[in-house]
Amino acid sequence: MKILGIETSCDETSAAVVVDGIELKSNILMSQESVHSQFGGIVPEVAAREHTKVIFNTVQNALDRAETTLQEINAIAVTSGPGLAGSLLVGVNFAKGLSVSANIPLIEVHHIDGHIHAAWLNYPQLGSTPEFPFVCMIASGGHTELILMKDHGVYKKLGQTLDDAAGEAFDKIGRLLGLGFPGGPKVEAAAQKAKEEIILPRAWLKGTSNFSFSGLKTATLQTIQKFEKEEQMSSDKIASIARAFQNSVVEVLVKKTVDVCDNYNANGIIIGGGVAANKFLRDEMIAKSNIPVFCPELKLCTDNAAMIASAGYFKSKNHPFSPINFDIFLTKGLGK
Ligand code: KG4
Ligand code: ZN
Repeated sequence: MKILGIETSCDETSAAVVVDGIELKSNILMSQESVHSQFGGIVPEVAAREHTKVIFNTVQNALDRAETTLQEINAIAVTSGPGLAGSLLVGVNFAKGLSVSANIPLIEVHHIDGHIHAAWLNYPQLGSTPEFPFVCMIASGGHTELILMKDHGVYKKLGQTLDDAAGEAFDKIGRLLGLGFPGGPKVEAAAQKAKEEIILPRAWLKGTSNFSFSGLKTATLQTIQKFEKEEQMSSDKIASIARAFQNSVVEVLVKKTVDVCDNYNANGIIIGGGVAANKFLRDEMIAKSNIPVFCPELKLCTDNAAMIASAGYFKSKNHPFSPINFDIFLTKGLGK
């Protein structure tokens, strides 16, 4: 089954062609990073406008790169939420238009279901004999969630952030340290140059699988202000604060993920979302876990349409295609 995936939930316009949920034929990504970086963060109206400008060519490129035509596409999978309203509407309405004009069925996909399925693109062996359950740790600019995956489409929410998403915190600290947007990769790069040991707090929220990063954000800000007041701020200090911040986020994400696996006899950990592109996080998760850890390659961790096409394929096995009048949604989580 050949699926065209479309993803426009945030600030990446992406289209991809994937066969049977695992075989990646193309994955085109048009990033808006340079447009938003001048504002220090994503501006929703600008994001929607940028999607509109490039969606047609992005989809055409995905078909061309996959050496396929619309006539050979069996279904269109599109992110219906959660995300930014204006951004989601561009992808969903484009998919609906294509569906009607080319008579191709639609599959609406939850964005987090997509992030989870990025693993199937890198580990095709998961597709044939998945040994559920898996614990999925999805951390991005908008989400930080621990999810138990009992089967494709059968999810139980184990925990989530009570305030900021991990990626949002990385972005904020990147801005405070003057490293620019998006903060995640910049904080990670700065952390590699750290020399001095600085310790920042960890919010364990013991007895739960929830997370909190707002206290860490405040503690980091206070550390920066203290060094500024003492006129000690330097590139060395920036690197050391970046590493201290990254250590705190990663230690909590890894420990809480690994710990919860025992409670559910999980057979594997799937990580995903932009923060899962962080090498320190990937290495630590593998080091601390005694069950296999599935880490999609970096460009499949951040937003992309291939993961949406893969999730759409597995959804279509157990669900009817979506009606043309399905709506976008902004906040609904995955699983109960
Ligand atoms: O999944 P994603 O592309 O978009 C959302 O659905 O939000 O995630 C983007 C987030 C941003 O907050 C970005 O700073 C963060 O992922 N991120 C990282 C890294 N690369 C991207 N965070 C930490 N380390 C990285 N290497
Ligand atoms: Zn995402």
